[in-house]
Amino acid sequence: MYRDRIRMKSLWNKIVDAEVAASLIKDGMIVGMSGFTRAGEAKVVPLALAERARREPFKITLMTGASLGSDIDRMLTEAKALSRRLPFQGDPTLRAAINRGEVMFIDQHLSETVEMLRSRQMGPVDVAVIEVCGITEDGGLIPTTSIGNSATFAILAEQLIIELNLTQPPALEGMHDVYIPTRRPYRTPIPVMSPDARVGVPYIPIDPSRIKAIVVTQKADSCSTIQPPDGETRAIAGHLTELLKYEVSKGRLTNTLSPLQAGIGTIANSVMHGLIDSPFHSLKMYSEVLQDSTFDLFDAGKLDFASGSAMTLSTSRHEHVLQDINRYKSRLLLRPQEISNHPEVIRRLGVIGINTALEADIYGNVNSTHVQGTHMMNGIGGSGDFARNAYMSVFVTKSLAKDGKISSIVPMVSHVDHNEHDVDILVTECGLADLRGLAPRERAVLISQNCVHPSYRELMQDYIREAGKRSGHTPHVLEEAFSWHTRFTATGSMKD
Ligand code: COA
Repeated sequence: MYRDRIRMKSLWNKIVDAEVAASLIKDGMIVGMSGFTRAGEAKVVPLALAERARREPFKITLMTGASLGSDIDRMLTEAKALSRRLPFQGDPTLRAAINRGEVMFIDQHLSETVEMLRSRQMGPVDVAVIEVCGITEDGGLIPTTSIGNSATFAILAEQLIIELNLTQPPALEGMHDVYIPTRRPYRTPIPVMSPDARVGVPYIPIDPSRIKAIVVTQKADSCSTIQPPDGETRAIAGHLTELLKYEVSKGRLTNTLSPLQAGIGTIANSVMHGLIDSPFHSLKMYSEVLQDSTFDLFDAGKLDFASGSAMTLSTSRHEHVLQDINRYKSRLLLRPQEISNHPEVIRRLGVIGINTALEADIYGNVNSTHVQGTHMMNGIGGSGDFARNAYMSVFVTKSLAKDGKISSIVPMVSHVDHNEHDVDILVTECGLADLRGLAPRERAVLISQNCVHPSYRELMQDYIREAGKRSGHTPHVLEEAFSWHTRFTATGSMKD
């Protein structure tokens, strides 16, 4: 059966088992693997690698599109096989190793990794390990549920290991659009003029002589762990819907809105889900990760087209979508993450970017990555690619975390991923602050009134009053700016 999927017959003799393929990866190598937010990762070779690392210590630099499923980051971390990891992760064991300083993590804008490799500011890529659902007659690689950075890893790598995954339906062929930008500084414009524009080829073009091993697998993608919408995320979606209606009433948008992007995680997924009960229709997405809400919107007849780099779905949605992929295929496109997240295209299309903050401050600076300013959560991912270049950059967060012991709105963020210049709208379940055209002092008043939870509002207003007595365009009581964080460390709560 698997031979039907390897249409270039001269590659049949490259089939080996995972251990043999993994033995091509040596100590100190830089390895690029497919995989983006638990979708389409190479599955059995990395696990064979982890197994080997338990017996024979070695370390690699591991690059992917984004986070991996199949417990790969956990197994490689436990086997102490990772020296460096980039550009994103989401695994608790790896996260702990990063925060202990054992694994060097490079937290990068997701559109940038392959630009840096191509221009040799990083790299070279010694080995690429790429999951496919088939290989064309000319040796082209047909990706699966994500593209991420796979195309450029495969094009640049000295040696290629392919995982042919038989659980991924052959019908995925045709859903990908692989476009590689031309070299800088003579680059031509990226010709994506609408979310549904096809500008490349439906496979990764490579030199097949660099394929050193093909491993056949039957290991399914891991499903997403996002939680269903709750009262707070529904309230956030409601506030955002009201804002979008207001934009329509002002004639700045129509009921089909601008192309939408939604970040990873429970909150952004719930917010998109909320659009089912809105007056908007014929929507389009130009996004990075397509989560359950994309397919909920398709099924509700609200969404016409979705362009992304990966499909990351819950267990029930995953089965349903993959079995019925032909129903969605004409309305879906997966692109390399440098194209799904490309500043040029995001700016051209006028994308409405909706991303999640861990914490935000009274002036609209956002921390999406570092708990208490020091401890890495997942990484910036594509949120910066979208926030800086969006038509309208929205950040959402629940106003409280950890049973109210943490306020997500603080006087000064303890780490900055998105600065005040990249944040137009801030939304919590309490309300929405439209920061467009406002000076810092005005922003502070609006954010404290609309977004801060009532249990912290008075404390925040005291801070703003005190800061306002001091001079400055963006006033702060510097000796108090992190007092909420230090109080949390000392007492376990940010409350006075
Ligand atoms: N301080 C400490 N912890 C906080 C916090 C804060 N201010 N705010 C939230 N958290 C914790 C939550 O308690 C939760 O912890 P748990 O996993 O132990 O339950 C965790 O962070 C996730 O928060 P949750 O409220 O469930 O939100 P989420 O699943 O939507 O994830 C981010 C939020 C910020 C972690 C996630 O969106 C992310 O990693 N973003 C950065 C990358 C990105 O935006 N990519 C998209 C680009 S397309």
